[in-house]
Amino acid sequence: MSLAEFTSSLDTLLLAAEKSLGLVADDAGLEELRVLYTGAKNGQLKTIQKGMGVLSPVEKPAAGKKFNEVRDAVQAAIDSAAARIGSSATTGVTIGGTAAVSKKSGPQVDPTLPGLRPRLGRLHPITQTIEDLKEIMGRLGFSATEGPEIEDTWHNFVALNIPEDHPARDPLDNFYLATAGKNSSDPTALDAKLLRSQTSTVQIRAMETQQPPLRIISLGRVYRPDEADMTHFPMFHQMEGLWIDISVTMAQLKSVLRMFATSYLGGDVTIRFRPSFFPFTEPSVEVDYFWNDQWVEFGGAGMVDPNVLKAVGYDPEKVSGFAFGLGVERLCMRRYGITDIRDLFRSDVRFLRQF
Ligand code: DAH
Repeated sequence: MSLAEFTSSLDTLLLAAEKSLGLVADDAGLEELRVLYTGAKNGQLKTIQKGMGVLSPVEKPAAGKKFNEVRDAVQAAIDSAAARIGSSATTGVTIGGTAAVSKKSGPQVDPTLPGLRPRLGRLHPITQTIEDLKEIMGRLGFSATEGPEIEDTWHNFVALNIPEDHPARDPLDNFYLATAGKNSSDPTALDAKLLRSQTSTVQIRAMETQQPPLRIISLGRVYRPDEADMTHFPMFHQMEGLWIDISVTMAQLKSVLRMFATSYLGGDVTIRFRPSFFPFTEPSVEVDYFWNDQWVEFGGAGMVDPNVLKAVGYDPEKVSGFAFGLGVERLCMRRYGITDIRDLFRSDVRFLRQF
């Protein structure tokens, strides 16, 4: 065999290989062609390669180079045929595994394996409680509104009829902010800023922007520099309620709080008002619920003080109203039997995912 014959037999082989590999449609056919052209024992490339032995030493380098080129080209044609079949093969998978699937065409789908189960997150129990409370109060006609957590002394104290010398304004009982306002280091200044110590601030904000009648609740965080223990935490949540109209009564206040407690805690909850004092209500009461054979305090309430109505520009001769503030953690803890408030804020998912 001459070099010319050697070269032309390689060219013929490559032509035939590219043509047939370009047409092959399934894996069995591809495997047949692979063996035909590149089979290690009797493949056509192998046969031609054996003929190289008779060529003269001068011809051998050129022959070897040509052989390598053709061998690589055949391999490339096999690869591209496999890729073409492989992509259509994976879309043709049928359950029971009857579709032909190429061994070489990448990761296979086994539809009989169980799927990857997504890890579902859930809402924090306090967030769930807030949603529940909004829903219950919504049924009683109260719409939810929000106010800022960084407040000025006007909304947190002054407009709520809390005088300058009231112990509730003591810097030791509040988180005053040193950064905001030009007189911010002076807690008596009207533009002093603090983390709100109660959601009653939102009563003022709502009345400043809306005219009566008004029936709102506001749920959110409040802050007090308390040492954390089983029942205290420096940040907690309150639900504030406010109903202003031409003839709102204390009997309605009691009914609303009783219906609310019955809905949230379940059963027919008995409610008790104990005389108390808050600067922004007159008369004022502490609200207790009878729960598991004992009276438990849930917050404060009362009829909105005329001074508060005046502070927001309402006429106390024309409108009246009631207000209340309840502890959200307390409600949530009662309902779920949580005994330590700190558990709610440790961010331990083993605890939180129970709810
Ligand atoms: N703001 C009071 C507190 O944090 C709770 C409260 C009492 C709210 C009486 C009210 C109310 O709206 O009328 O202790």
